Amino acid sequence: MYTPTEERTLFEDTKRMLNTEVSDLADPAEAIESLRALIIYHEWKYYVRNNPVLSDFEYDQLYKMLEGLEQMHPDLVAPDSPTQRVSSDLTEDFRSVEHLSPMLSLANSYNAEDLKDFDKSVRKLLGIEPGIPIAYTVEPKFDGGSIALVYDGDQLVRGATRGDGRLGDDMTPNARTIRSIPLKAGFSAHDISRIELRGEAIIRKDNFGKINEIRGKEGLPLFANPRNAATGGLRMKDPGDTAKRGIEAFIYQISYVEGRMGNDTSRYFDTQWDGMEFLQGLGFKVPGEERKQCKDIQEVIDFCAAWEERRDSYPYEIDGMVVKVDRLSYQQEIGSTSHHPRWAIAYKFKAKQATSRLIKVEYQVGKIGSITPVAKLEPVQLAGVTVSSVSLHNEDFITSKDLRINDYVIVERAGDVIPYIVKALEDLRTGDEVPIEFPRYCPINETAQIPLVRVPSEAAWRCPNCTCGAQDLQRIIFHVSKSAMNIDGFGKSIVERFSDEGWIRSMADIYRLDYEKVAQLEGFGVKSATKLKSSIDKAKKNPIHRLLHSLSIHHLGQRASKILAEHIDHVLDLRHWTIEQLTAIKDIGPVLAENVVNYFADERNIAMLEDMEALGVNMRQTSEDKPLEVVEDAPFAGKTILFTGTLHKLKRKEAQELAEKQGARNISAVSSNLNILVVGEKAGSKLKKAEALGTVEIMTEDQFLEKVQA
Ligand code: IVH
Repeated sequence: MYTPTEERTLFEDTKRMLNTEVSDLADPAEAIESLRALIIYHEWKYYVRNNPVLSDFEYDQLYKMLEGLEQMHPDLVAPDSPTQRVSSDLTEDFRSVEHLSPMLSLANSYNAEDLKDFDKSVRKLLGIEPGIPIAYTVEPKFDGGSIALVYDGDQLVRGATRGDGRLGDDMTPNARTIRSIPLKAGFSAHDISRIELRGEAIIRKDNFGKINEIRGKEGLPLFANPRNAATGGLRMKDPGDTAKRGIEAFIYQISYVEGRMGNDTSRYFDTQWDGMEFLQGLGFKVPGEERKQCKDIQEVIDFCAAWEERRDSYPYEIDGMVVKVDRLSYQQEIGSTSHHPRWAIAYKFKAKQATSRLIKVEYQVGKIGSITPVAKLEPVQLAGVTVSSVSLHNEDFITSKDLRINDYVIVERAGDVIPYIVKALEDLRTGDEVPIEFPRYCPINETAQIPLVRVPSEAAWRCPNCTCGAQDLQRIIFHVSKSAMNIDGFGKSIVERFSDEGWIRSMADIYRLDYEKVAQLEGFGVKSATKLKSSIDKAKKNPIHRLLHSLSIHHLGQRASKILAEHIDHVLDLRHWTIEQLTAIKDIGPVLAENVVNYFADERNIAMLEDMEALGVNMRQTSEDKPLEVVEDAPFAGKTILFTGTLHKLKRKEAQELAEKQGARNISAVSSNLNILVVGEKAGSKLKKAEALGTVEIMTEDQFLEKVQA
């Protein structure tokens, strides 16, 4: 249908369009024309080819632009415009049935301003004064496939897909396999003889993972997302196959009633909220804590923002929230357009995915010489931040995704997760893409021609023989960091500055800084220099486990450093330790032992440590390094513990150290291995999981403190 060059042009036009303000479009007729062409192309990519090159968010933006322009210029609306159809999923395999009321779409909003505008328009339509608040019910916008269920008397008689909004596909036998849909529900006892409910068929994220895992093993193509797995599952020819998908159905709307009081829904229920409570009482699955009755639009805005934060920890995919005027009589008064109700709006979360272009790859060297490729991208907005650079991790990542310079790529940033490249858009390639050749020589100092090495068990290539100082710099940055020597106020940028000044070339140089010179450096002054001096003086007295960890010996993490520190009186004693002696220590393996032996066999390292000692850095075991004498009856002896939520009296770190002193071991996840969970404010999924396990002792911060202080 489209040649690759055409696709490429359409894609680039799209990007340009997305960066244009509607007010900057000179010729509306021309803009409408090109927006239609773009939307038709993207709909084809999405619905026909199942291979979208645009995020849902960007598509919505295009659609909104066209809708806006058409509203401003009604004479330019044409029947074949993409806005003039309600998208259809009708197929010939199923019988068509007419919905009892049209299944409409929703208008979209993207920020607090849009929601306030929505509130204003509702207010205007109802003729309600600005001072008087309007209540809304807010629910998640489930990202699955919509369904309409009809109950005659108490019996489920029909389940249908949305279809074109007027007619849907009858898939009653499939709906009957969905366990969360009651086959019988007590409507008649409430004077209702016939009812139509709307909801969303959806698959839990964890279940989706399992489905794909099984499909992978069976050699079947994988589903791109839970929505596809759910909508596909609804349309199985054999209901037995639908049953196997583990589809669930959330009900979110009563779209039609018939009964003793007639057809007017508002005579049976006052509000959307009441309708949902009623259905919940009859055994339907309706949104629970994720549904809220908000007294005004500000509460709506806050609730939407809170859920935008939480979306990743929610077990189902949601792409926004749906805001509905709560009072049903108001809903009726306000009415609908042919496309969407005027009393409801979707608040769409910021896109987690966006497309960008891979311009070039740069390489960074880490403290143990690992070479990390970093992709430089055309800057793109992603979940509220601008992204222009993402890690490509290692050579295998690049080859497995077949990434090339000049490729258009999909970038994703979910929650707090750092952005990463999902895939290259191969359909948009023109032939100008250049494969990324991972260097074989250290890319930091090319003239030195140092061959990189790769340990077979590891993914990273490393520069084994650094001559350029880049690794030293990374090690120094690590040495001063919080988890190592914890030198307060001494961060990456200061290390880089001092290094540029030629003041620090090795870790030892930190301890012979000339503070008079520091004070003269722009942005410093005597006060900052004095502060830095006292932080460094304090660090000199650190227990040796911190120093050991700060040396960047491969695999010598915090825990191993503590174990090692328990066994030595003086850091330089390690010169005389053998691999056998080290591996005799519990929890020290042969790889780490070899790394330690090699480090202390290198004269340069010894010279540096001696230098540090002469400058006052502590090398002797301190009381903090000594093995913890866990008294038999220490309150947490032998127990595992985890802290979750916000603690108010203790910092998280302090709490963990306290627990450790009382014999506990800190672990990071809730599992059957966990003995104690200490919950702070706003504890979330961890608490739920622990409660569900039933074997975990749950205590508050105060209870914890009482125990440790007892
Ligand atoms: S209300 C007449 N509520 O979003 C009201 N829709 O873009 C229209 N959806 O087709 C629907 N969660 O499939 C409503 N809590 C929710 C929803 C929801 C998901 C879907 C629904 C609809 C689409 C509209």
